[in-house]
Amino acid sequence: MFFDPGKMSSIIMIPLLPLLNIVSGSRLCPDPCLCYDSSDLVDCRFRGLDHVPQGVPHGTWLLDLSGNKVKDIRFTSFVGLWSLKILCMSNNSIHAVHPQSLSSLQFLERLDLSFNRLRWLPDDFTKSLSSLQELRLDHNLLQHIDSSSLSDSDNLKKLDLSHNQIQTLDVRAFNSLSRLRLLNLDGNKLNVLREGLLSRQQSLEVLLLNHNNISEIQTEALAPLRSLTILGLQGNQLEHIKFKTFLKLQTISTHMQMSLNPWVCDCDLQRVFGKIQYVRHLHVEDYRGIICHAPPQQAGSLLASMDSQLCMAETASVLVITITVLLAVIGALVKAERNRKNKQAASDAESQEK
Ligand SMILES: *[C@@H]1O[C@H](CO)[C@@H](O)[C@H](O)[C@H]1NC(C)=O
Ligand SMILES: *[C@@H]1O[C@H](CO)[C@@H](O)[C@H](O)[C@H]1NC(C)=O
Repeated sequence: MFFDPGKMSSIIMIPLLPLLNIVSGSRLCPDPCLCYDSSDLVDCRFRGLDHVPQGVPHGTWLLDLSGNKVKDIRFTSFVGLWSLKILCMSNNSIHAVHPQSLSSLQFLERLDLSFNRLRWLPDDFTKSLSSLQELRLDHNLLQHIDSSSLSDSDNLKKLDLSHNQIQTLDVRAFNSLSRLRLLNLDGNKLNVLREGLLSRQQSLEVLLLNHNNISEIQTEALAPLRSLTILGLQGNQLEHIKFKTFLKLQTISTHMQMSLNPWVCDCDLQRVFGKIQYVRHLHVEDYRGIICHAPPQQAGSLLASMDSQLCMAETASVLVITITVLLAVIGALVKAERNRKNKQAASDAESQEK
């Protein structure tokens, strides 16, 4: 929602094209690329490149290599590009980023590696990238994020890990990202939102976890988030939630998206959503779209259309049980009394016979 695929390059490159002097062909520009503004901007998009070209000028601050066939990022790929602020490498075939291969990019502010084939990130992937503000790793094949991959990037504000295969995140994976404002984990395979994972994310404003496999949100998992305005939990495996988990969100106003989960619509669930509605800073944006998955008699119904019916049913069944128990007790008492009387009558008759 904050950055679309391809926007980065189209916003920066295209409007500038007519204004700038093309210096392509000069010795300062790497061979298949176009260079603008004294090679400050180097455009190597869609050139069929299978490696990062040599000879990118030291002063370049934007290098766009998207839509090529680069397979890996090597130690030598960006040596000497000290001025680089924006590096776009989306839509390549990158499956490996070798250790230390980004370590010279100390002024890099944006790195786009979306639409590649990364299955893992090396240790210290962002170690020297202390200026990095925006990192796109969406549409890769990542399965796990380690504790050390995203270290040292304490200026990072936007991290896009959406549309990967992430099943597990080390509980310390985001520990150094204390200025993070947007974390997009949509379209992964997460099962649990763990306590401690977001412990340093007091500045996080947008947390997107839509379309995962989350069936459990641990009670304290959201507690550290003080700035959260949007929490996306659509399309997960949530059947129940605890009121306490959401009450821990000490924010000014948080909008939550929770439809497309297999909700078990019982009195308990209705009470939780009922209570959430009374908390002023919590808003379930799509409450009217929450559809019950179970029990069978409620499947397909809207939770909102049931008012307090579910709890009434519960009250009714408690009543029925109470009455049944009462009747049984009365029955037993009556029977006992009758037995006593029968015995009495029998012994009376016996004594009369004597
Ligand atoms: C990358 O590929 C995706 C899917 O094929 C496409 O939607 C996107 O626009 C491409 N981005 C760039 C910068 O080429
Ligand atoms: C999704 O979660 C369920 C438990 O809720 C688990 O049995 C299943 O294996 C998970 N699927 C994936 C793809 O992780």
